[in-house]
Amino acid sequence: MNITVIKAPASRRAQSNLENAAFGEVFSDHMFQMEYRNGGWEAAKLLPFGPLPLLPSVSALHYGQIVFEGLKAFRQHDGAAALFRPEKFYERFARSCRRLAIPPMGREQFIGAVKAVVREDAGWVPQKRGHSLYLRPFVFASESFLGVRASREYTFMVIASPVGSYYKEGVKPVRLTTSANYIRAAKGGLGDVKTPANYAASLLAAEEAREQGFAQVIWLDAIEHRYLEEAGAMNIFCVIGDELITPPLEGTILPGVTRDSVLALAKAWGIKTAERRIGIDELFDARDKGALREVFGSGTAAVISPVGEIRHGDTTLTVNGGAIGPMAQRLYDAITGIQYGKAADTFGWMEKAG
Ligand code: COI
Repeated sequence: MNITVIKAPASRRAQSNLENAAFGEVFSDHMFQMEYRNGGWEAAKLLPFGPLPLLPSVSALHYGQIVFEGLKAFRQHDGAAALFRPEKFYERFARSCRRLAIPPMGREQFIGAVKAVVREDAGWVPQKRGHSLYLRPFVFASESFLGVRASREYTFMVIASPVGSYYKEGVKPVRLTTSANYIRAAKGGLGDVKTPANYAASLLAAEEAREQGFAQVIWLDAIEHRYLEEAGAMNIFCVIGDELITPPLEGTILPGVTRDSVLALAKAWGIKTAERRIGIDELFDARDKGALREVFGSGTAAVISPVGEIRHGDTTLTVNGGAIGPMAQRLYDAITGIQYGKAADTFGWMEKAG
């Protein structure tokens, strides 16, 4: 891919507080931009990070025809930066684009754009364990048009943010609550693709949960309001007895790359895994029988996020005494071990960015 490069006059890195910034608050020096016009992707550019000249009439601002991704680059012991499973993120991006009637670019263009940002801003890939450069590719409908139809023009961009822990608690167990009033997604909708509407639909419920002292909402299915779907913006796993269980991908759940990695690792370790529906009542029953061992979320941002407590209606469940469990810890250590190049990459998940 031919990329026109316009460099930032000076780096902002020395002045940026990398270690203490909250997730996604600081951005690197450059951004990638490419346009879809006349039926094709063109005009790839690497530019200084900055504001976009945008007409207020672009259709993304009105009808939300937008898709995004989130993946990370990690500093390896030899100093190089490597991406975790970029192919898998591209596949999900292309799938999300098709659902939003957006023409996806090719794999090489998507991964090439991400790598171009990582290469240009290599100095922004943090050294510290637990920290990484979070890449945010996204595409939005950029045609100036207020009719309700798929746009004929799109803008694709990649921005980058050095990040530490997603939750301010770090890898500490979080408290979650179900929501009696809201749902996240229904079959045939958008729940299994990465588009802003899903996140917008979750915000009020998350705000209300936070006001009541919970980190996030544990989403139940839209029909019976019974089966676990996601934990905040993460996939959810439970350990009941000796089995690692996660809800199946049946159209309402985002197919997480970390979710896939957790299942692959657990299977390789000989752990019994199941992708099946889990009722919230089953969690309480398992607790009563002493079989509920762990609950945790998985996602790119937080990797593994243990759940210490779940409130449902006026009942509350404590998981593993409110502490991180051995499975969550083992998975966190294994995934981050591979990401930082400390453990053998037996699945071929890492790809050098340079
Ligand atoms: C993740 O990476 O786990 C997420 O989906 C959260 C992200 C949207 C910040």
